[in-house]
Amino acid sequence: MVKIIDGKALAQKKQIALAKKVEALKSSSHIVPGLVVILVGDDPASQVYVKNKEKAALKAGFKSETVRLSSDISEDELVSIVEEYNRDDSIHGILVQLPLPKHINDKRIILTIDPHKDVDGFHPMNTGHLWSGRPIMVPCTPAGIMEMLSEYQIPIEGKHAVIIGRSNIVGKPMAQLLLAQNATVTLTHSKTKNIKEITSQADILIIAIGQGHFVTKDFVKSGAVVIDVGMNRDDNQKLIGDADFEDLKDKVSYITPVPGGVGPMTITMLLEQTYQSAFRSVKNGNN
Ligand code: GUN
Repeated sequence: MVKIIDGKALAQKKQIALAKKVEALKSSSHIVPGLVVILVGDDPASQVYVKNKEKAALKAGFKSETVRLSSDISEDELVSIVEEYNRDDSIHGILVQLPLPKHINDKRIILTIDPHKDVDGFHPMNTGHLWSGRPIMVPCTPAGIMEMLSEYQIPIEGKHAVIIGRSNIVGKPMAQLLLAQNATVTLTHSKTKNIKEITSQADILIIAIGQGHFVTKDFVKSGAVVIDVGMNRDDNQKLIGDADFEDLKDKVSYITPVPGGVGPMTITMLLEQTYQSAFRSVKNGNN
């Protein structure tokens, strides 16, 4: 019988625990963790993510700011805004929502974020720490997936983990986190040949490609664990994952639903890392 990995319930549990830690930090150090989310343009999916992030941050007792900028803002203007938040001691986490409009070089913007406030873990200093086995700030989606695997006591050591998708946001950091826990990791992508032959060897299959219902039961072996990072709209605008849940559910051992799987955990890890950044700033006497 398949087990559904309930990311929504786990996220709620973790956010309640986090709100208590935030209260304790407030009373011991008078520090309120501060998160700023910068959104450029009016991409509808990004608007939804940003609203959810804001709601969760306020509920957990954070100071939450959202900066909404017009899509024609220049790269230099955006750099100046990020620099302003780098200097602001009441802000411990800066997130610039991706994707950015084409005329803005996202690599330059990521490099501008103070690595200590880079709660997305996208700055090369943080990716470097991750790849050298000393993670500090880790991309939130893969971090949330590791929490889900741990909560459901899914063994990782010695298992074959296959990832579909090699983005900097999910695929690459996911590979590193699984490797750090002694999985054998295969990273597949759009140019991979015979992908089904590889995915059907997976004990753990992570799918992050953004193609609705791409993975069906002929991609997996019996008893595999399937983690679905996809967020796609079908023809009726219904939210669907990269995995075909109905087709897979009788073959796999665990699966994450969409919605209610990976998504809520991403936000939880964002808040957790902002809290950790605030906590470190107290220790380092930056306030
Ligand atoms: N766009 C999609 N996912 C993410 C994320 O985790 N962080 C940021 N900054 N942008 C995203």
